[in-house]
Amino acid sequence: MQHLITTSDFTKEEILKIYDDAKIFLDMESSEVLKGKIIVNLFFENSTRTRGAFEMAAKRLGAQVISLDVGTSSTNKGETVFDTVMNIKAMGPDAIVIRHSDCNFHRTLVDYVDCPIINAGAGKTAHPTQALLDLFTISEHFDGEIEGKKVAIVGDVKSSRVAGSNKELLPRFGIDVCFVAPDCFKYEDESLKQYNLIDEIIDEVDVVMSLRTQLERHNEVYFQSLNEYAKDYCITKETFGERDILLLHPGPVNRNVDISDEMLVDSRNKVLEQVKNGVAVRMAVLKKLVLKQ
Ligand code: CP
Repeated sequence: MQHLITTSDFTKEEILKIYDDAKIFLDMESSEVLKGKIIVNLFFENSTRTRGAFEMAAKRLGAQVISLDVGTSSTNKGETVFDTVMNIKAMGPDAIVIRHSDCNFHRTLVDYVDCPIINAGAGKTAHPTQALLDLFTISEHFDGEIEGKKVAIVGDVKSSRVAGSNKELLPRFGIDVCFVAPDCFKYEDESLKQYNLIDEIIDEVDVVMSLRTQLERHNEVYFQSLNEYAKDYCITKETFGERDILLLHPGPVNRNVDISDEMLVDSRNKVLEQVKNGVAVRMAVLKKLVLKQ
């Protein structure tokens, strides 16, 4: 049984096949590829894009979707999250899509289920389908010529599962990744190239991936206000100048903290392109894991 817990669960060849399928799905309104299948969404953390995209993806493939409202589930009556998943599993779904704050939770499930587990976000560590759609968006933008491209991931990299998955995935495709963050958000990994300010690297990069400041994961207050943080880390017209750089963000964007209003309507910003691609990539992931192809 194949699962998607981290991007390393897929080989490079498998990812390229997913992208071949995603390109077809981009132009496909609906199909019956997963007709008769049932996908269960379990989101124990907030989500707009990932949950919406998985629902859209499953329905576009002809599957039915059950999105359990965990706020009214029996976890509120003392049931453990593990037992909740075991009870869902007993109902016989064809895949379970899970977002949970515990970084290790998804991996602990795989010995107990007989359907694919798909990680839709695990704590601070992994968000594999986000990284897959980020790489797809970069590849589409550069017509597949991504070897040697340089990506700067800017902001709260330390608390970001998006940064965690991209730093694993992108280098496998020949992309050079660096992090840009204040000292308090620096990643504890000496092998990574890290910078304090985007100005130090802006002339060398092809892609800037801005991140949200993950206040909900902080145990202390690092900045007196987000405006103080934004002075150095908000991506503005001045940051980019006339440079031909692709601007990405996994969402949700904190306007004028992560990216300025002006840059959100700039043609170099592909944030909504990422969202669109996220449906197609997740269609391809669901097809692969549910049909075991
Ligand atoms: N990118 C992302 O994970 O967004 P959501 O939290 O809205 O799903």
